Formats: sequence, C-alpha cells, structure tokens
Amino acid sequence: MSRRIAVLAGDGIGPEVIAVGLERLDPSWEMVPIDAGAGRYLRTGDTITGSEVDAIRDCDALLLGAVGDPRVPDGVLERGILLRLRRELDLYVNLRPFPELGIVFVRENTEGLYAGVGECDEVHAFETSVNTRTAIQRTAGYAFRLARTRGDHLTWVHKTNVLTYAGGLWRAVVEDVSTSFPEVSVDYLHVDAAAYHLVRDPGRFDVVLTDNLFGDVLSDLAAGVGDGLGAAASANLHPDPQTRPQRCVGLFEPVHGSAPDIAGTGLADPSAAIGAVELLVDALEQEVAVT
Ligand code: IPM
Ligand code: MG
Repeated sequence: MSRRIAVLAGDGIGPEVIAVGLERLDPSWEMVPIDAGAGRYLRTGDTITGSEVDAIRDCDALLLGAVGDPRVPDGVLERGILLRLRRELDLYVNLRPFPELGIVFVRENTEGLYAGVGECDEVHAFETSVNTRTAIQRTAGYAFRLARTRGDHLTWVHKTNVLTYAGGLWRAVVEDVSTSFPEVSVDYLHVDAAAYHLVRDPGRFDVVLTDNLFGDVLSDLAAGVGDGLGAAASANLHPDPQTRPQRCVGLFEPVHGSAPDIAGTGLADPSAAIGAVELLVDALEQEVAVT
C-alpha cells in the first residue's frame, strides 16, 4: 500500500539521523518534507504554519528528527512545533519502548505541566498542571490494553503523597479503568521510588503508565539504564481510528534532542531514528498499535 510520510528532520543531528532512518522506508512511498526548526525560525521568525499542520494531518504519519538550538530561546521550538503537534493532532499517548529492559512507558502526552497554563511577573511564576478525567482515562485504557498483550502487569507512577489534587484524580481514574482489566496486576509507585527501582531493579517493571512530565524524566532515566539515548525511540499516537481527528496516525521521533555540539561530526547514533521508523511502520501495519 502506498503511503505518504511527512518528514520534519529539524535541527542539529536531526537531518543526519533521519537520513539513515529513511533508508528503511519503502522507496515507493511519498515523502513530504516539512521545513521547520531553528534554521527557519532564525531566517523568518516562523515555527510552523496552520497549513503545514494541515499538510501533516493529511499524511499517514510524521517522522521528526529533533528540534532545538542554543540560538533560539528555550521553549520557542519545543512549544511552537513539537508540543503544538502533539496537542493539535491529539496524539495523547507517548509510547516509549525499552525492549532491552522489557519495559514500555505509556506517557500521557497532552496535559499535565506541559499544558502551557500559567502566569508570571518579576517575582512570581505559576505553572499549572492540567489533568482531566478524559485524558487520564484514554491513556490508562491504552496502557491496560497494552499490558494485556504483554506480561499482564502495569505500574502507574505519580506523586500522590504531595500532588494530592492531580494524584487523587489519577488514582480514581486508574482504579476505575483497572476494573475492566481484572487479569492485569497493578502496582503503584511514587515517582521518586520509581526512579530508584528503575536503576536498581528494572526487571520489576513491564508497562509503566504515568503523566507527561514524569514520563519525560523517567524515560530518559530508563534510556540511561538501558541502551542509551542514542537507541531510544518514541511514538506519539492517537491509537483509535474511530476518534482520530485526521489521517495521520502519529508522530515518530527519537527520544534524544538535536545535540548541536556533535552535528556533522559523524558521531550521532542513528539507532533511535531507525527505531522511530520501525515504530512508524508497525503502527501503519497494525493501524492501531493495540487492539
Ligand atoms: C521528549 C523531549 C520533549 C519533551 C522536549 C523537546 C519538549 O524531551 O520528547 O522527551 O519534553 O517532551
Ligand atoms: Mg524528554
């Protein structure tokens, strides 16, 4: 089946690792290059336009290298491109497999402290974590279905002893979803304890369900325990075709950043980009990663 893939190679080592990843795709597939990232921002002041987002929606998937550059203020490219695409395409699951550890992270990908809600002046800064039943429920549902295809074991991670509002809602929703999956054994860990156990005893984990920021941090930690950031790939998915708001099934990317310090030196490891291409091909083959 012929496919159309949007390719946003981005900054730093992005283009070189994506070039290697693309060699793994069927050469008959159409590639739609998206010129976005630091180079364009510094040239034009734009991150990505609505019509480019629409062009991505009309592709089967988006492959992204990395965005980020020390010449661009923090957040401009991250929020302007990557987080915008995750939100606007409603890619609510961030799936991060670590096959070498037998662990897969299911990270809620649209809310939490990534929601961009807050305010500041010279002496105050408020950053609000957004948590909705709908978002927790659909992410948890995906994680439990995934657990059923693996070892029937799920660990969910939060900080319910301190973040009592968000943690309380997460607990209520995860417990509610778990009643539909009686065969899946459920474990809960506070995020600090989860960090400790990931280093000391990664074998106790299988599917790990967590919120946006905890998932960001713990997945880098797992990469450090496992084969390194050079090998970690991720899939940002809207897994259900019935509710998916577009043709595009997801955004596939290495977990690593743009590493401008080694760009062009030949040192960049393309394994994560190859892994991202494999996740992309898998998602298109299955159409839904989990059914
Ligand atoms: C990741 C990255 C992004 C995130 C950054 C680049 C915004 O660290 O995909 O893990 O925090 O989600
Ligand atoms: Mg990260």
